[in-house]
Amino acid sequence: MRKLQRKRPMAMDKSSSKYRTYFWYVAMVSFLLWLVLLYLFNSSVKTVHNHERLFRQENVIDLPVHVSQQNHESDQAVVSNVDNITVPVTGNGSSQEVQISEDAKVVSDLVEELEKEDVENVKKRGDTAWSRRSTRSRGRHRESRRTRSSDKRMVRPNNDDENNVDNSDENHQSLDKEPNFFEPRNDVTSKKERVDDNNVVESKQKTSNNNTSKVNSRISAKRNRPKVVVRPRVTRRNDPCRGKYVYMHDVPSLFNEELLKNCWTLSRWTDMCELTSNFGLGPPLPNMEGVSGWFATNQFTLEVIFHNRMKQYKCLTKDSSLASAVYVPYYPGLDLMRFLWGPFPSMRDAAALDLMKWLRERQEWKRMDGRDHFMVAGRTTWDFMRTPGNESDWGNRLMILPEIRNMTMLLIESSPWNYHGFAVPYPTYFHPSTNAEILQWQNRMRRIKRRYLFSFVGAPRPNLGDSIRSEIMDQCKASRRKCKLLECVSGSQKCYKPDQIMKFFLSSTFCLQPPGDSYTRRSTFDSILAGCIPVFFHPGSAYAQYIWHLPKDIGKYSVFIPGKNVKEGKASIERVLSRIPREKVVAMREEVIKLIPRLMYFNPSGKRGDVGRFEDAFDVAVEGVLERVEGLRKRIEEGNEEIFDFPERFSWKYNVFGNVEKHEWDSYFDRR
Ligand SMILES: *[C@@H]1O[C@H](CO)[C@@H](O)[C@H](O)[C@H]1NC(C)=O
Ligand SMILES: *[C@@H]1O[C@H](CO)[C@@H](O)[C@H](O)[C@H]1NC(C)=O
Ligand SMILES: *[C@@H]1O[C@H](CO)[C@@H](O)[C@H](O)[C@H]1NC(C)=O
Ligand SMILES: *[C@@H]1O[C@H](CO)[C@@H](O)[C@H](O)[C@H]1NC(C)=O
Ligand SMILES: *[C@@H]1O[C@H](CO)[C@@H](O)[C@H](O)[C@H]1NC(C)=O
Ligand SMILES: *[C@@H]1O[C@H](CO)[C@@H](O)[C@H](O)[C@H]1NC(C)=O
Repeated sequence: MRKLQRKRPMAMDKSSSKYRTYFWYVAMVSFLLWLVLLYLFNSSVKTVHNHERLFRQENVIDLPVHVSQQNHESDQAVVSNVDNITVPVTGNGSSQEVQISEDAKVVSDLVEELEKEDVENVKKRGDTAWSRRSTRSRGRHRESRRTRSSDKRMVRPNNDDENNVDNSDENHQSLDKEPNFFEPRNDVTSKKERVDDNNVVESKQKTSNNNTSKVNSRISAKRNRPKVVVRPRVTRRNDPCRGKYVYMHDVPSLFNEELLKNCWTLSRWTDMCELTSNFGLGPPLPNMEGVSGWFATNQFTLEVIFHNRMKQYKCLTKDSSLASAVYVPYYPGLDLMRFLWGPFPSMRDAAALDLMKWLRERQEWKRMDGRDHFMVAGRTTWDFMRTPGNESDWGNRLMILPEIRNMTMLLIESSPWNYHGFAVPYPTYFHPSTNAEILQWQNRMRRIKRRYLFSFVGAPRPNLGDSIRSEIMDQCKASRRKCKLLECVSGSQKCYKPDQIMKFFLSSTFCLQPPGDSYTRRSTFDSILAGCIPVFFHPGSAYAQYIWHLPKDIGKYSVFIPGKNVKEGKASIERVLSRIPREKVVAMREEVIKLIPRLMYFNPSGKRGDVGRFEDAFDVAVEGVLERVEGLRKRIEEGNEEIFDFPERFSWKYNVFGNVEKHEWDSYFDRR
């Protein structure tokens, strides 16, 4: 009895002391948590205030890029910028060696500075056209978001692209930035503004060029570097990978894996965890027409798919001295997605700037100033072209960073006016693991009965003045039994189901692909996959984009009807299409079906080794990059002062035709 009594208080004592420790433990943890939160808050505030300064402690160091950028914005002359950077550096040389390396730094800073100026000028020229549009579009976007919030679709703004019917809402906005051909050209004030702007740019450029050449000669006097490119080490002659080796940078996981690990932070509306599963293919779908290999793939996950495909690339090397090209496995679109609607616009650039800093310190970068590097983004160019100095503008600045401008950037839609952007196909729903699946599918597509002459899936764009979508929909409705229309009004679930969409394309001979918010549509690739012959209304929708993937002879696999003729009611789509002879249609369809493998992405979880496999969109893209890099290498070796010998705004033309001579498509890409 006594024992028991004694025991009880002891037990209580014990447990209460246990609770006390526990309490202290909890208190400690909450205190630490508070500290961490405080730190995070502090640094995020810092980030916001410091604009492009990065959020991590180490990044608070001055980056020359940013310095120059800021100077830039204050519109200083190039020379004074240069001097400002030069002074602190040279002022501190103690030993000869330090001096030399610092000289190199000065030089690279100078060059960068000049590059920047060029970028800015180019950008400015382009932006004048955009700027008048953006005000309007921004208003429109806000409006559209408001309307949306009242309907259920608002919950998932990505619906459009998910269904691949169209570009995403996000694209929607970004497209608005496009120097648009839809825009009516009777806006007198904006025209005047534009002209003024151009003059300013022109005169500014003249002086800067003048100055530039002076600085340039200063640079070459300073550095006595011969124009020798460090070529990749040559392997034996019968090496199948000769000239095809690719080195993949081991970038910090912050830039890729961790984005996936924290997939729930990527989007407020869409379950990106589900969509980035399965190597980026998304959740599997049931067989279609008895063929396996289908997934509910979202276009934004191209970055993940590409990365995983690269991991099994047959000529991937761990030895960078062998590599002809260097892949940077960063997920720029997923990264940007986190902050597109967030309150801290500067965060949209943070990781990208961070990565650029990291890249420039690599020995691989120094070989060719990054000219042999490439990267992939599952978004359109317009999401990465924010006007410098305007944080309320859409997107981030990735595509105008000097490092990126030295690289090759692969995107689902490129800008026709950029040197460094190249379009690769949108991912579709089909990701076979074997050749057999492809062959099976191709055979199905040859035999399937197509009830309709043509079809259109999509939504009208009443807000875009020059959009031809409403005309197309009217024409489709008018030719009742020949055309099938799937109007994507909000709430219609049909547009959002992969199998419904595919069935739709499977039942048509021709599929209309008018521009939407931007030139390109994912629907183009889904319809080609279904063996449906694409009908384009603008050369920027495919011909001037997917130059590596689509045949040069556009008439072999597609029909082109100038959008202007449709808009003005001069072209009857039904008449144009029904006049094409039957044999020609069959030949075109066969061409389209043959294109299927190179426009889709193989399942990255398939067996390593591509022996005997069809070339998929990934293979074709890597080949395109290798070829481009080799061309740049040659030009640098030849000692060309200018790496590109054509004006940047003609990039589309040069890429398509190999020259910049006058062409009938010029008016489609006119920026004035
Ligand atoms: C460089 O440009 C500035 C104007 O931007 C001009 O005042 C200056 O004279 C130029 N310098 C040289 C050396 O041409
Ligand atoms: C360069 O330094 C001078 C003197 O410190 C300053 O007045 C000028 O604004 C600086 N220029 C730039 C482009 O920052
Ligand atoms: C110059 O170098 C010395 C040490 O070498 C350093 O203490 C000083 O801060 C440096 N000054 C500048 C302006 O970088
Ligand atoms: C460069 O500037 C100098 C004066 O600084 C001027 O005499 C010369 O004509 C300019 N050259 C060009 C090509 O603008
Ligand atoms: C910045 O961008 C916003 C949105 O596009 C636009 O409304 C505003 O006029 C721009 N500001 C400047 C200074 O360009
Ligand atoms: C880009 O390439 C040029 C040479 O073509 C080089 O001078 C410049 O430093 C490079 N830019 C960066 C950021 O590395």
